[in-house]
Amino acid sequence: MGLAWYMGSGPQRRKRSGKDVGSRHDRAAKPRQDGVPVSDRILRPFRNDAHSCLRSRLVPRAARAQLAIAQGANIRPTSTELSKEILPHVPDASTPVIEVSDLHKSFGPLEVLRGVSMAAPKGHVVSLIGSSGSGKSTLLRCINLLEDSQQGGIIFEGEPISWRGEGANRRPADRIQVTRIRTNLSMVFQQFNLWAHLTILQNVMKAPVTVLKRNRADVEDAARRYLERVGIGDKCDAYPAQLSGGQQQRAAIARALCMEPRALLFDEPTSALDPELEQEVVKVIKSLAEEGRTMLLVTHDMTMARDVSDHVLFLHEGRIEEEGSPDALFDAPRTERLRQFLSHVRAA
Ligand SMILES: Nc1ncnc2c1ncn2[C@@H]1O[C@H](COP(=O)(O)OP(=O)(O)OP(=O)(O)O)[C@@H](O)[C@H]1O
Ligand SMILES: [Mg+2]
Repeated sequence: MGLAWYMGSGPQRRKRSGKDVGSRHDRAAKPRQDGVPVSDRILRPFRNDAHSCLRSRLVPRAARAQLAIAQGANIRPTSTELSKEILPHVPDASTPVIEVSDLHKSFGPLEVLRGVSMAAPKGHVVSLIGSSGSGKSTLLRCINLLEDSQQGGIIFEGEPISWRGEGANRRPADRIQVTRIRTNLSMVFQQFNLWAHLTILQNVMKAPVTVLKRNRADVEDAARRYLERVGIGDKCDAYPAQLSGGQQQRAAIARALCMEPRALLFDEPTSALDPELEQEVVKVIKSLAEEGRTMLLVTHDMTMARDVSDHVLFLHEGRIEEEGSPDALFDAPRTERLRQFLSHVRAA
């Protein structure tokens, strides 16, 4: 009998390679004494066709419950679901997408971020400039929760990251929150990081399909649109090695956009490119800024920083040494360190 009785009347199975495979949760579902698995009992209110989509295992359980509530079904979410997914945080327009307060980060004895506070309001471009080793990439990685930080707050659309432990033992406490925030902050790296064995179209589609479980046909439409948008719509079937650096970086930007993120984080997106190819990417970044996308941009390109930014932060030895509008920072630097940095960059 095995799973067969369960598959017949239970939720849709997830199919891979033509075979039915149960999720870890499915396999763990134990029949009650009356022979009905716990998970099936939860879904019993949705037996009719109108609710069939709610039974799909491809829809997270909390989201199914949320839909059920919206449709007036008699189901109560658990407190865990309530805290994690059912009541998504709805920010108002004035809430910054990203806020960081007094953030500290060390690698062993090396203190890299020494109390950084900043905010990226919705629709704004904030650029981070500073000399090599000042902590720019580390700050982006901490914001995206790719690195742990030891002290201070990170707030995403008004929702503070919850932590457990302290100091060197501090870690994000909520796995679901981490996934939600990471998928809403798409990062573009200096070295593109495209999958060499996938075509450009497959690269762009991969995360929305596999991580966000979006409908493949819809994702393909969006992916083709974003590749057009960055000017490489004719490269869908090419592999990364068949593209120039500038084209690869534009593919990486299309991939980030296809996640439909709340903000884009760029870490030196043009620094691996020849000046000519660099301009192709600068053009795309400028057009994204004009579209009103929220972006946090680490760059060595002062012309781009000046052109696209609403606000510029100068990071020096792990602290924000000076910040302000591009005009104020580039035309009238107040600190000696920024003056020195700008004269070095201009001389280079
Ligand atoms: N994983 C790591 N382990 C140990 N030290 C690290 C690690 N990552 C970065 N660092 C150190 O942290 C400091 C800041 O590095 P980070 O990469 O943030 O600098 P940056 O401002 O981005 O520099 P660049 O302009 O060269 O990219 C450097 O001294 C670096 O050596
Ligand atoms: Mg860096």
